[in-house]
Amino acid sequence: MTLKAGVTGIGSALPEHVVTNKDLEAYLDTTDAWIQRRTGIRERRHLNGTVTLTDLAAEACRDALQDAGREAADIDHVIVATFTPDRLMPGLAPKLATVLGTDGAGAIDVNAACAGFLYGLDQSAALIESGRVQRALVVGAEALSRVTDPHDRGTAILFADGAAAVVVEAGAFENGCSPFVLCSDGEHGDLLYAEREERLLRMEGQEVYRHAVERMVEATREALRRADLTVDDIDVLIVHQANQRIIDAAARRLGVPEEKVFANVDTIANTSSASIPLALHHAEQRGHLKPGHTVALAAFGGGFVWGAGIVTWKERVHAGA
Ligand code: UT7
Repeated sequence: MTLKAGVTGIGSALPEHVVTNKDLEAYLDTTDAWIQRRTGIRERRHLNGTVTLTDLAAEACRDALQDAGREAADIDHVIVATFTPDRLMPGLAPKLATVLGTDGAGAIDVNAACAGFLYGLDQSAALIESGRVQRALVVGAEALSRVTDPHDRGTAILFADGAAAVVVEAGAFENGCSPFVLCSDGEHGDLLYAEREERLLRMEGQEVYRHAVERMVEATREALRRADLTVDDIDVLIVHQANQRIIDAAARRLGVPEEKVFANVDTIANTSSASIPLALHHAEQRGHLKPGHTVALAAFGGGFVWGAGIVTWKERVHAGA
């Protein structure tokens, strides 16, 4: 059996401060009813006070390491998917690797907007399968409240903060992480962006919505094909938690029944690159995701960038190569 990359642990962390739709009603021309009907979101979390995104990411990583039964010193590579790091430079990953107590692990940030976690997971799998890395932490961490215009009702209701991480290891897994499908189309870069000067997210919501559904469905079909699987093989479908209607539309078009689709957008909202690992962790905590399950992941974000991948969850085959 050839060396594969498999997920062996997961953890997450959310800021304590909860912002409800009612809170937004106080200063935004919107209503709780509109937000729930059009997005499925009831509340979201925002970082405030002295807690940094590095703190939040570290909490998620410690949780993931414990879940995998590993120490920070066992990790030789840290990939953080984020476009809202604490500082413009250096990235979040080097400080995170140090705070965790890795032994000088390789550490890098990747920015692929809301698809960042999938890009990071694919990169870690490639490094592991080529033998260059043994164990990696792949983190999705965002503080979107830092780049959201609180008076723009088209975005302020959607974006939120959070962090989650997985431990990815080399092992003689049967499936592990199948080859991901990763795509981009810079032609549409003006539909979702934040300018260097303004530093606030601007979005043509309806257009992004339409592309998001189509691209995630296409990519998931292609990822299934590459993994030699069909839609019926999916045990759990997790798509980027942007909007409940997007999640439902993608699942419907793929033909995945409701009971196999996990969503936590109601209480987490859109946390960009943290969205998929947060949903994975919550799906596991709520008993929807179990070892051996075939999980289909799909994400879409500004760029446009998007992708999909099939992962066998916490596979228990001959681990520890
Ligand atoms: O993470 C990257 C990917 N991001 C996404 O995938 C987000 C994709 N987009 C969306 O989730 C949705 O497009 C939104 C939630 C942003 C907007 O929902 P929509 O159903 O597409 O609404 P819309 O933009 O077509 O607007 C419909 C109406 C408009 O009013 P008029 O022109 O019909 O009078 C908007 O001005 O709703 C109005 N509107 C609102 N009303 C109350 C827009 N935002 C709000 C709001 N509260 N927050």
